[in-house]
Amino acid sequence: MNILVTGGAGFIGSHTCLALLEQGYEVVVVDSFINSNKKSLDGVIEILKFNKTIKNIPLEIIKADIRNEKLLDKLFLGYKKSGKPINAVIHFAGLKSVKESILNPLNYWDVNVNGSITLLRVMDRYKCKRIVFSSSATIYGYSNKKSFNENSEIKPINPYGTTKVAIEQFLNDVYLSNPKEWGIANLRYFNPIGAHPSGLIGEAPLGVPSNIFPYLTQVAAGKINKLNIFGNDWPTKDGTAIRDYIHVMDLAEGHISALQKLNENKIMTVNLGTGFGTSVLELVNTFERVNNIKIPIEFTSRRQGDCCRVVADNTLAISSLGWSPKRYLEEMCLDGWKWQSLNPKGY
Ligand code: UD1
Repeated sequence: MNILVTGGAGFIGSHTCLALLEQGYEVVVVDSFINSNKKSLDGVIEILKFNKTIKNIPLEIIKADIRNEKLLDKLFLGYKKSGKPINAVIHFAGLKSVKESILNPLNYWDVNVNGSITLLRVMDRYKCKRIVFSSSATIYGYSNKKSFNENSEIKPINPYGTTKVAIEQFLNDVYLSNPKEWGIANLRYFNPIGAHPSGLIGEAPLGVPSNIFPYLTQVAAGKINKLNIFGNDWPTKDGTAIRDYIHVMDLAEGHISALQKLNENKIMTVNLGTGFGTSVLELVNTFERVNNIKIPIEFTSRRQGDCCRVVADNTLAISSLGWSPKRYLEEMCLDGWKWQSLNPKGY
């Protein structure tokens, strides 16, 4: 199977490319590299060579923006003519900063929504009707529930979230137009952290990270002097907010399970999380313990738009995908730190 991975050089994308190649898929990456680095894919190749699992690594890398319809068309046509048509797409490409999306909604709607429409138009033209879409738990109306299932209220509070909802709805309409042919999976991620245990690929945000885990690893590396914890007055056992952290390799494997399920034509929308809640202090304590590093912290006020508890009900993922998360918080902290300490400047 020849799989197109848009945004395949990003954090989740690169780990998913690795998992795909390990499972014998052929992979074509389309990435604009505006928020990612081609070196992540060099890392993927290095891991595969080291493991000696594959002799000729079937990975093609193309620099392109998914809004470039002509280029996408040429790509699909080229693969069709070569007798190896693109069979399915895993669609990561998109902008993902909450803050930026509030400042520049036009750009977010253009890249995320128009980009997805362009991609689907080309897929449709070439009768490629399998897509796994990278959605987010950020679309739930955060309400401090014990956990969110796929039927929980959808109520995004920023343009990043509204573009994810719009794409899910658009994909649903596409599916309904021809349910006998389309196979679509919307995967709603919770908080992916960690890295591949080799330390060769990982998360490399540009500038100061806004998510907690890369921020924490940069504090551990001495690049930032302390971790600000946003609020210690949440109604939780230690006063800090609770999230569902999931190892990026578990998340990557979830994409392959979803892809395999799309052989039956259907649409599915599935949470990918562990179902376990971890407070900010528990995350920091675990990181300190497994890596034997002290993290200086300071409690500050709550961050605007934050909420107390966001944890997945992952029952549907387990029953419908035959997937389950396998890696504990300890591994996320060990692997994430290995990546940061071996690559202090990222890629
Ligand atoms: C954030 C985004 C969400 C996005 C997700 C993944 C917001 C409000 N939400 O989710 O839309 O899908 O990232 O990219 O931005 N924290 C600190 N100190 C820090 C950073 C974070 O205490 O320096 C806390 C936060 O308050 C939160 C937890 O750590 O309780 C996790 O934060 P973060 O990694 O930013 O993820 P989310 O807020 O869950």
